[in-house]
Amino acid sequence: MNREYDTIVLGDCLELFKAIPSNSVDITFADPPFNLKKKYKTYHDDRAVQEYLDWCEQWITEMVRVTKPSGSLFIHNIPQWLTFYAAYLNKSAYFKHWIVWDAPTVPMGKSLQPAHYGILFYTKSAKGAKIYELRRPHERERRSGYLRKDYGGKKSLLHPFGPLVSDVWTDIHRIRHKTRRDEHPCQLPVHLLERILLMASDAGDTVLDPFSGTGTTAVAAKQLGRRYLGFELDEQYRRLSVQKLEQTRAHRTLKDKWVSWFLDEIVTLREADWEIIKDCFCIPQDSRLVDKQKIRLNAVFARR
Ligand SMILES: C[S@@+](CC[C@H](N)C(=O)[O-])C[C@H]1O[C@@H](n2cnc3c(N)ncnc32)[C@H](O)[C@@H]1O
Repeated sequence: MNREYDTIVLGDCLELFKAIPSNSVDITFADPPFNLKKKYKTYHDDRAVQEYLDWCEQWITEMVRVTKPSGSLFIHNIPQWLTFYAAYLNKSAYFKHWIVWDAPTVPMGKSLQPAHYGILFYTKSAKGAKIYELRRPHERERRSGYLRKDYGGKKSLLHPFGPLVSDVWTDIHRIRHKTRRDEHPCQLPVHLLERILLMASDAGDTVLDPFSGTGTTAVAAKQLGRRYLGFELDEQYRRLSVQKLEQTRAHRTLKDKWVSWFLDEIVTLREADWEIIKDCFCIPQDSRLVDKQKIRLNAVFARR
């Protein structure tokens, strides 16, 4: 049986994967339970280590199976588990990046303070996967607006929007405000998923998330004109996602190019789109002014 897209399905992902044909999905993204005793409504996040890892290997195998030969896989977790995941994935997919998402995580005892999550980025085939270079805004001092980084005498060469995105993501923060989060212990920010989707998919492509939670991946997909399928064990989280998705609209595009927004600011765009959309911004003649303030969108292109 083929699954319909643009829906969140209730159930155990290992069962639901069975209905997904091999080589049929453009992107698979997983943010599984971390086995850290988090308080989910249905799932018990406290398995014996080997039991947890064996279970992970099963859904990772399914992710690889359903991903198209031109597609990519992403898995978010703490480094401790990602080292095992990489060993499973190395057997049947191709390593692209270990993305460091700079965000405080759970203390692990008397050693280094963990300060990042990892996102494994693999492609199904050795060559030919869709991968787009991205740009993000320059990091600036909050009050003065000046660039945080000292570029020395090279400021005139700076890109007016911001640098290419690297494999260390410091500019996307965990959701802190209660008003912006749902009742779920580990909801990801939507613009984190949007960055992933802009990097590795096109509008109209399909995205599958086997641990949908509050539907973050689906919301990101809908906002960027992609098709989504989510699996979720808990009915309350599924219902919440469906309600959110009903309210979700596609983002406004700039000259038909998709960009990722957060609070009315563009947080990620594609390098290849820059030449087409740069007219949408007020860019100072004197490129050294990039040092002092971020470039703004022309009023007509503003999000609202
Ligand atoms: C880390 S959370 C995902 C959070 C999600 N990324 C978000 O931003 O809301 C993991 C989710 O997987 C769900 N889950 C656990 N075991 C599952 C299974 N076997 N099949 C489907 N969903 C499962 C849990 O209920 C939980 O909502």
